[in-house]
Amino acid sequence: MTKKIAVLPGDGIGHEIVAEAVKVITALQSDGLDVEMNEGLVGGSAYDVTGTPLPEETLTLARESDAILLGAVGGYKWESLDISVRPEKGLLGLRKELGLFANLRPAILYPQLADASTLKPEVVSGLDIMIVRELTGGIYFGQPRGVRTLDNGEREGYNTLVYRESEIKRITEVAFDIARKRGKKLCSVDKANVLECTELWREVVIDMHKDNSDVELSHMYVDNAAMQLVRAPKQFDVMVTTNMFGDILSDCAAMLTGSIGMLPSASLNEKGQGMYEPIHGSAPDIAGQNMANPLATILSVAMMLRYSLDEPAMADRIEKAVDNVLDQGLRTADIYSESMKKVSTTEMGDAVVAAL
Ligand code: IPM
Ligand code: MG
Repeated sequence: MTKKIAVLPGDGIGHEIVAEAVKVITALQSDGLDVEMNEGLVGGSAYDVTGTPLPEETLTLARESDAILLGAVGGYKWESLDISVRPEKGLLGLRKELGLFANLRPAILYPQLADASTLKPEVVSGLDIMIVRELTGGIYFGQPRGVRTLDNGEREGYNTLVYRESEIKRITEVAFDIARKRGKKLCSVDKANVLECTELWREVVIDMHKDNSDVELSHMYVDNAAMQLVRAPKQFDVMVTTNMFGDILSDCAAMLTGSIGMLPSASLNEKGQGMYEPIHGSAPDIAGQNMANPLATILSVAMMLRYSLDEPAMADRIEKAVDNVLDQGLRTADIYSESMKKVSTTEMGDAVVAAL
């Protein structure tokens, strides 16, 4: 049966990078990939047209699709809007409404890009980490939240960090399963020395280890984990952590690989439905200039083929094609180094299609 992909470019460079990913999907369609693509609005561009960053129509389209391809949301233009209608709310709403609790963020260093990292090549060469970030709970969604005015007239902002045992269990289960298929090492990141909520997190993870003892488990406080990621990142195989810690650590891990423009992500729900997006943002500073790196989005399509569309061979083809264009020395500006060939967003997309 024809599978459905919702295509949501979003804002800024989202349009440019998604267009290249769509080229790749279209090329695979002519090789027998049985999918149908339907485009929808999300983020600031949705707000401009409909007054909301997540129109009902988009939500319905996403719900009825097997997979969602998302570009990026946000931009200067919408920064002064009320937080309830900012572009980011569109993304968070999709995650929450579809129950996409498991966010997989691989950080892999392509050997061709070893010198694009700001870290010494020997520290990062061969790097292959998977960060499993809880995506629909924690402080991002906890109630109560807001800004209130105290009796003395001073304003006070507040958010709530909250996790139920069941939420911790289901993300930990995903992490153990992934670790089992890789290097069999899982590091759970928390702040159990200060935050009761993550003290519970640690207790639940330890408890679950009893049924997952084939995987080696360690625990780290988030401050130390951030330090270890830049000190000796290769000690990690799989990391599992809360929504906010995962947000921060995954940006850090991305930079170890040289460019945030290279890293895809998958966000999955209990039904195996998934949303696929680059981990970088909408980069309004370079939007519309045909210079953004489309590879993270193209690699997100590979993750989509693997996790939601059951086409692992096609996923392999995309990953090999990306490897191939890097071997050819093609580089967008973010990963450019001397003696390489600088290419635009569209040239990079075309090169990947040619290498398929
Ligand atoms: C990410 C982004 C988002 C997040 C923003 C755009 C809401 O930083 O996907 O990492 O904080 O989750
Ligand atoms: Mg982030």
